[in-house]
Amino acid sequence: MTDMLRAPAEVKYAEELDWLESIDDGPKPFSWRLSPRMIRLFILGSERADGLDREISQKWFGDRSFVERSIVTLASDRGLLLIGDPGTGKSWLAELLAAAISRNSTLVVQGTAGTTEDHIKYSWNVSMVIAKGQSRASLIPSPIMTAMEKGVIGRFEELTRSTSDVQDALISILSEKYVSIPELDDDNIVFAQPGFSIIATANSRDRGVNDLSSALKRRFNFVRIPVVTNKKSEAEIVRFRTTELLRRHRIELDVPPNLLDILLQSFADLRAAAASATSDDDKLESALSTAEQIGVLEDAILHSTFFGDRSLRAETLAGSLVGSLARRSPEDLAILNKYWHGVVEPRSKEDGGEWPAFLEGGRQAIATLS
Ligand SMILES: Nc1ncnc2c1ncn2[C@@H]1O[C@H](COP(=O)(O)OP(=O)(O)OP(=O)(O)O)[C@@H](O)[C@H]1O
Ligand SMILES: [Mg+2]
Repeated sequence: MTDMLRAPAEVKYAEELDWLESIDDGPKPFSWRLSPRMIRLFILGSERADGLDREISQKWFGDRSFVERSIVTLASDRGLLLIGDPGTGKSWLAELLAAAISRNSTLVVQGTAGTTEDHIKYSWNVSMVIAKGQSRASLIPSPIMTAMEKGVIGRFEELTRSTSDVQDALISILSEKYVSIPELDDDNIVFAQPGFSIIATANSRDRGVNDLSSALKRRFNFVRIPVVTNKKSEAEIVRFRTTELLRRHRIELDVPPNLLDILLQSFADLRAAAASATSDDDKLESALSTAEQIGVLEDAILHSTFFGDRSLRAETLAGSLVGSLARRSPEDLAILNKYWHGVVEPRSKEDGGEWPAFLEGGRQAIATLS
């Protein structure tokens, strides 16, 4: 296999998927590659009670009910809409579902203000149209249309960012399950094959989900993904991603467990502070998601590898945390400063360990940025 900066889930976990397929004797909806139980197992990982000959790693961390409801939705007539705060793993879950169901998670349309109907239906290869006229050969299907033809999952990222024209086009695709091509005289309808469905994601901090037309809302089942606040699951996610990251960069470095604890504790404290803040100015601009925590750790690891002595230090971690979270100056810096004085300082006196170094690193970073 050639190198890729980031392999899609079906490539990265091809071996696991092959194996699961080989032992899967459960009933499969449509042309699905795996049965619903195996899909759940692939996403949430195996437990001893499953009695498998090998371990399947957990890839998405969250309540199993979300995963089950998502799978059930995709076996139904409706599309799946995953909604939640930024960085809660919606896109990752969508990718895993598409990989497990269709072995193809790359038929993706990105919703932006500039997304047009062509992006979800089809467009034309202009030079071929000039040379040979409009025909199926000169038609360029969109990823969604390709998903329909193949009977697989199509993905629509950031659905709420697209305009109402695009949303309307999607309504007809989801209800009629075909796309007509009025420019052609014959062979001018593309019917969706069984197994086609759509997984869309929407960020609840963007323009409201309420802006979706009610006709479109009716064609989707909503699954709300909350921010992970359980420290244990959060630690698992951060560890899982970090291991992967180190492997990708071919970095040999241990992340000391006590530094991981400090990172998790800081985010928990900052979230609590944000929850009790009365105005937006007293709240960090960051959503303080798990993904952001991963970003802080990634920065710290790369910094230590490139400029440090290849071991992760509390000072470096503090510097990355301040650097990533101080987006607005002076508001975010003031909040961080308050946190450092009010929480990190007393902790460092009481708990000792790596906290004093964390305190010092953060102080310096705040001073540099202020
Ligand atoms: N529950 C989770 N399980 C596993 N990984 C997670 C989870 N939450 C976040 N992550 C990791 O965090 C990163 C960001 O997640 P992802 O891009 O899926 O978020 P998102 O919800 O789509 O965010 P956005 O709304 O900004 O698009 C990914 O690398 C993902 O693997
Ligand atoms: Mg996303």
